[in-house]
Amino acid sequence: MTLSRRDFMSGLALGAAATTAAGARAVPEIEAAQPLRAPRRPLIVAAGNGFPYLEEAYGFLRDGGDSLEAALRVVRGPEDDPEDDSVGLGGLPNEEGVVELDACCMHGPTRRAGAVGGVRNIRSVARLAREVMLHTAHVMLVGEGAERFAVARGFQRENLLTDASRRTWLLWKEAHSDWWGPGLADPAWRERFRGSPRTDGGSPPAARLRALAAGLGIPPAQQDAAIDRVLRPPTGTVHCSALAANGDVSGCTTTSGLAWKLPGRLGDSPIIGAGCYCDPDVGSAGATGSGEENIKIVGAHTILENMRRGMTPLEAGMDVLRRIAHHYGGAQERLQFLDITYYVLRKDGAYAGVSMWTGYEPGRPHTIAVHDGSRRLEKTTSLFEGASAYWPPTVAPGRDQT
Ligand code: GLY
Repeated sequence: MTLSRRDFMSGLALGAAATTAAGARAVPEIEAAQPLRAPRRPLIVAAGNGFPYLEEAYGFLRDGGDSLEAALRVVRGPEDDPEDDSVGLGGLPNEEGVVELDACCMHGPTRRAGAVGGVRNIRSVARLAREVMLHTAHVMLVGEGAERFAVARGFQRENLLTDASRRTWLLWKEAHSDWWGPGLADPAWRERFRGSPRTDGGSPPAARLRALAAGLGIPPAQQDAAIDRVLRPPTGTVHCSALAANGDVSGCTTTSGLAWKLPGRLGDSPIIGAGCYCDPDVGSAGATGSGEENIKIVGAHTILENMRRGMTPLEAGMDVLRRIAHHYGGAQERLQFLDITYYVLRKDGAYAGVSMWTGYEPGRPHTIAVHDGSRRLEKTTSLFEGASAYWPPTVAPGRDQT
């Protein structure tokens, strides 16, 4: 049987959707982008995975709660959710199987910021970033120092690697390493040649990955999702910006970062100005997606500066995406491998969600979660039509898999 990359990916998408349904998670209808909607306050915008947590945070904000606390309440949801493998507990680990988390926050009313990077064993890193902001004279702590500070502030150490994330990591190890998985003495030694890098140029075929996943004890219902993670290492993250009725605005971003990253790698999420930026005179913005590209453009800060000079949220976000495209001379052959979504909130309540591509795969558009009295998921406005691909390309675009 031959399966095109697109068929294979669509199959994985359907598998993921079924898992979601089985998990009884409400999947809301996704509305069209509404960048010209009349501004309202209070207002919260977030990445799509923040959607389930908007209601409680919006009520808190509407009742006079602090804008940063409202944003932290949203991102706490994915951080606590072991099934969200892009953030907090259950986040996919680095190449050594260790979960390392990054986060930052900015409190508009007091013009303060806090950030943490490469934090192990502590789940609520967005809140930890706030602790750095409130209880140190610094802005950023990383690694062991951040972990020790967390314990001093009363955070619990815990193992953030869930069994599902560990098995997915093992699948990635076996699919990508010469020395993990069956050796020459193993009765299944021939498996190493079926679609190994030596025989097909580096694209682990679906059949081999399914066999490896079964061998690792990944339940059949979870195999498609695990294979998806191996073939397309996610950069999932959650950002939230919150605007109070009185105009106070704050934002925060938290992530487990790029799956299978080198230990010590920091993405954009803990970088003030890249993963999140808030200026009480202008608004707040944040990012999810290709962290390396976003760091180079200092995306959230650049968006706010664009708005300060008079651009709308939509114009400000699209300008940054165009500038990233310009870094690659506009060549879609290379740009297909990077994808970024920006969540943009102006101080008056105007907002926009913009992304480089329509979605990570056909039928699953990038979204922005919004609550301004009504809670909804909207499609982002994208610079390019179509689905992005993943870097490094473990599956060659357009290549058949057997
Ligand atoms: N945007 C998340 C990361 O690249 O780590």
